[in-house]
Amino acid sequence: MLINKAENIHKPVLLAETLQMLDPQPGEVFVDATLGLGGHTEAILAISGDIQAIGIDQDARAIELAEQRLAHFGNQFEAFHANFSDILLVLEKAGIEKADCILADLGVSSLQFDSETRGFSFRFDAPLDMRMDADADTETAAELLETLSEFEIARIIYEYGEERFSRRIARRIVERRERGEPVKTTGELAKLVEKAIWRGKKDKIHPATKTFQALRIAVNDELEIIEQFVRDSVKILKAGGRMAVITFHSLEDRIVKQTMQKLSGKCFCPPRMPVCVCRASREIEILTRKPVTSGEEETDNNPRARSAKLRTCRKID
Ligand SMILES: C[S@@+](CC[C@H](N)C(=O)[O-])C[C@H]1O[C@@H](n2cnc3c(N)ncnc32)[C@H](O)[C@@H]1O
Repeated sequence: MLINKAENIHKPVLLAETLQMLDPQPGEVFVDATLGLGGHTEAILAISGDIQAIGIDQDARAIELAEQRLAHFGNQFEAFHANFSDILLVLEKAGIEKADCILADLGVSSLQFDSETRGFSFRFDAPLDMRMDADADTETAAELLETLSEFEIARIIYEYGEERFSRRIARRIVERRERGEPVKTTGELAKLVEKAIWRGKKDKIHPATKTFQALRIAVNDELEIIEQFVRDSVKILKAGGRMAVITFHSLEDRIVKQTMQKLSGKCFCPPRMPVCVCRASREIEILTRKPVTSGEEETDNNPRARSAKLRTCRKID
């Protein structure tokens, strides 16, 4: 069925720019830490029959579809259902000591965001789940809203969604559960947020956009793992190896930017600190002083690309 084919579900973002920056060569090992529907990996494998690719994703359905899409590359490609925070373990399992190119295209794929049942979007009424790894024994968004304190819910919505009405929204969520009607679906949450922050006129974006982003980040622990993942990736890059990271909002972009800066030798410690505690060291050179963004043609064809930022670095010899 056409709709189920990976290439019809998700368009890879900043594809030409990523290929140019990673510059994969025959004989090299490429690791796609966020395989998704395999769009970037497919383009890289197509460069040469002598490139080996390892794909990692925490979403088993994405792995299944990417494996179908990339099956014709035979043993050039191997996929692993894992979190990229385990990149070192995955590579050990794959029998690979060092990689030449690593890509992370962070966030959700269209497979997840456009799903009518997985609870990532207020466009469909569904159980409020939001786990990228639907097999994991971790809490869903509904479970978080049922168990966390009002303060903690407000903190998540404020910090991860940058939502100024976070406290008002948290109050309404807790009021509902105190009445014995905890928020369980995307539709209920979207309506609650709309009512909580209604200002008499429609905004350009749906009022629940920031709250949904915040909950998704919390459910999947998206921000806390980025710095160590970038560090681990740099550790397993060969000298001269390249890493590319694509982000979709300022919170993750800031972490990637600062981690790359630390790994290029910039220290973030206060001037009076006797020793460096921010783990600055000189291991990479940054290839993108400013992040690469999508051109008009791409953003016209793919709205997801509008907020994409690509940062790349090279491990020094
Ligand atoms: C934007 S999509 C990648 C799309 C892919 N580049 C393509 O062209 O099809 C992001 C993917 O990364 C996965 N992902 C996000 N965070 C992850 C993590 N910590 N570990 C493993 N996979 C993750 C998501 O499940 C999703 O499939």
